[in-house]
Amino acid sequence: MINKYREGIESALNQWIPCPGADDPGGQVVEAMRYSLLAGGKRIRPVLTLAFCSLCGGDWQTAMPAACAVEMVHTYSLIHDDLPCMDDDDLRRGRPACHKIYGEAIALLAGDGLLTKAFECVTSLPDPQRAVKAATCLAQLSGYKGMVGGQCIDLSLDGKEVELALLKTMDRKKTVALIAAACRVGCIAAGAGSKELEAASRYAKGLGMAFQIRDDILDVTGDAGKLGKNTGMDSAHDKRNYVSLLGIEKAQALVERYTNLAIEALADFPLGFGMLRDLALSLAERES
Ligand code: IPE
Ligand code: IPE
Ligand code: MG
Ligand code: MG
Ligand code: MG
Repeated sequence: MINKYREGIESALNQWIPCPGADDPGGQVVEAMRYSLLAGGKRIRPVLTLAFCSLCGGDWQTAMPAACAVEMVHTYSLIHDDLPCMDDDDLRRGRPACHKIYGEAIALLAGDGLLTKAFECVTSLPDPQRAVKAATCLAQLSGYKGMVGGQCIDLSLDGKEVELALLKTMDRKKTVALIAAACRVGCIAAGAGSKELEAASRYAKGLGMAFQIRDDILDVTGDAGKLGKNTGMDSAHDKRNYVSLLGIEKAQALVERYTNLAIEALADFPLGFGMLRDLALSLAERES
């Protein structure tokens, strides 16, 4: 099923942002948006949207605009995250980062273009009430109380002494929040109620924390070829994360603990969904 979801996502993303015409004077920003969006990320977040829609009894195809919207917000966050004024990274998804090809100004605009296009997508969900609810959810969780706020904390901690509690707040915002948006908009597209939304958030909390801590581990132990991004960047920038504070072993133990919390949350859904359990387990061990 996951491959079917991924195929659908690739094709829908390509359709949402078509190639610009040769005579389009603003075409360069569209090229830059497509360059980063269609560069073959893992598509974890849009897969979660489609899977949660199914889990709540909906037809996953109806959630596709919301899934694409989440992936657009995620890709925008990566383009900006790589800019010299943020993490200053030059490799992403196995290719030069967006600003390395198009320059910083166009990369900035490509991020803006993806963020705004995301809201055109999500509001095209067929049921207008669900569309508004999903757009509100995505806006809240990707904005200053969510992903943007988390990125701000991340930058503020470079080179500083930090407590575990602040790292947790940072990861909940910068990574868990958008993963929670992915799961919740899937439930919303299916017309699910508050009990399902709450369980989806619990799954996202476990999976998202595990995902970011594993990302921090891979920055030390991973292989740039497999990851499609440089390793050793966090220590080069004196970044604060679970690995710098606890070391690899304790950090991986936390990945496993959070993964189990995610799996426990699935018990609250009446329809069983082995795929979401398997996804959580495979992400805990991922190498890319
Ligand atoms: C990278 O996310 C940013 C983090 C939150 C750690 P992914 O590892 O999902 O990146 P892509 O989408 O596969 O490129
Ligand atoms: C990024 O975290 C989280 C975002 C919100 C983009 P990282 O800075 O660790 O992500 P990578 O390692 O560059 O993918
Ligand atoms: Mg970063
Ligand atoms: Mg980064
Ligand atoms: Mg990282």
